[in-house]
Amino acid sequence: IQISVRPDRAEDLAQALTGSSKAKVMLIGLGARDTLRLEAGLCLYGSDIDETTTPVEGSLTWTIGKRRREEANFPGASVILKQIKEKPQRRRVGFISSGAPARGHTKIYDESGSSLIGELTSGCPSPSLKENVSMGYVKTAFTKNGTKVKFEVRKKMIDAVVSKMPFVPSNYFSPK
Ligand SMILES: *[C@@H]1O[C@H](CO)[C@@H](O)[C@H](O)[C@H]1NC(C)=O
Ligand SMILES: *[C@@H]1O[C@H](CO)[C@@H](O)[C@H](O)[C@H]1NC(C)=O
Repeated sequence: IQISVRPDRAEDLAQALTGSSKAKVMLIGLGARDTLRLEAGLCLYGSDIDETTTPVEGSLTWTIGKRRREEANFPGASVILKQIKEKPQRRRVGFISSGAPARGHTKIYDESGSSLIGELTSGCPSPSLKENVSMGYVKTAFTKNGTKVKFEVRKKMIDAVVSKMPFVPSNYFSPK
């Protein structure tokens, strides 16, 4: 879960959650946070989405409600609504790869390894799946689940396949 809290109350909250001997909450590092969110297929702002990506390219079109689409008056509306209609040139998808884990900025090639089709934005070993998972942007023709691609990792081409996200089914708390 993610909790927003006033900066001057953050320490008190952390103490309240972890401080007592009965507490079930433990502190973990940013690496674990990154693994969990990637397994869940969630974007990290600044890595997987930033001011150069649109929600359509980021596979986040669901965040644009019906009223907004109709009113078409939000920042970037002309570009974004056109992409919804005509498909974007590139889109964010997930991958499972063989060999060493592929990280952000890894170059993605087509199956033959001859044509550059995109770049990874994040990647890590998935402790839950025991697979090496990643996400990144590829040309729209390569976004279908099961599409075989190649990653260039340490000057070697390794096999990867486009995979549905979330990699691990999400189990979010939702208030009834
Ligand atoms: C994932 O990467 C690790 C290296 O950290 C490697 O040992 C392992 O074999 C890889 N997993 C798969 C399924 O290829
Ligand atoms: C996605 O493709 C894989 C093969 O790479 C297949 O095993 C899996 O069933 C597919 N999933 C969906 C939801 O189509």
